[in-house]
Amino acid sequence: MRTRDQMLSELRGNTPVIAPSMLKCDFGNLHREMELLDASGAALLHLDVMDGHFVPNLSYGPMVIGGMRGLTRTAFDAHLMISEPQKYLDDYIKVGCEAITVHLEAVPEPTGLLREIRRRGVVAGLAINPGTPISAVESLLSECDLFLVMSVQPGFGGQKFIPEVVSKIRDARSIAGNDLIISVDGGIGKSSIAACSEAGCDVFVAGSSVFDEPCYSAAMAELRQLAMDARTVC
Ligand code: DX5
Ligand code: ZN
Repeated sequence: MRTRDQMLSELRGNTPVIAPSMLKCDFGNLHREMELLDASGAALLHLDVMDGHFVPNLSYGPMVIGGMRGLTRTAFDAHLMISEPQKYLDDYIKVGCEAITVHLEAVPEPTGLLREIRRRGVVAGLAINPGTPISAVESLLSECDLFLVMSVQPGFGGQKFIPEVVSKIRDARSIAGNDLIISVDGGIGKSSIAACSEAGCDVFVAGSSVFDEPCYSAAMAELRQLAMDARTVC
């Protein structure tokens, strides 16, 4: 398992990073899915954890992630769309999640939890829903390593990108500077990735736009190129 410092330098060194969202993968054939993702050179896998309470859907938890951990060495980011994530922190660290992202809407006072995640040697991520303004996190950005801007309502893959969130990426970048890793999640594909990249995003979570394509590797390479081109322009 990577240390927090290793994770941070790996992520910063590989930007723009396309992080496949495993919600859309074939759970009947995880071994094959991991082989394909390894071959695509993915630097980070995004693991969507849903509890049917914080979001109106259920996905998977530490047991399945532990199973995945045995199949790949790629870094894991657990996106915890769950209530009371502090109760389950240990479980996700034990199964090898090197980044853990919690929602401000689930933990309105997240400073203690973010510090604890960092203290445990794990990359600390903070996510906000589309309706949450940047002013709600302004004083918290220095407490996290990764800031995740949701570009759909959390809970389901395959939704339409909400373009209004792009200004939050831009604002977060100007408030926090270049050290903060900024990520966007939901509806990211060929028509939305450039705007996010131009606004200063580093990590692009992609579910449908990778797993609905016949070749994951080609889909990821194309998205990464679009993100890179948008970045050079500005
Ligand atoms: C939504 C999840 C996303 C989602 C992404 O709650 O956090 O990670 O699975 O899927 P697409 O890319 O299809 O929107
Ligand atoms: Zn997610």
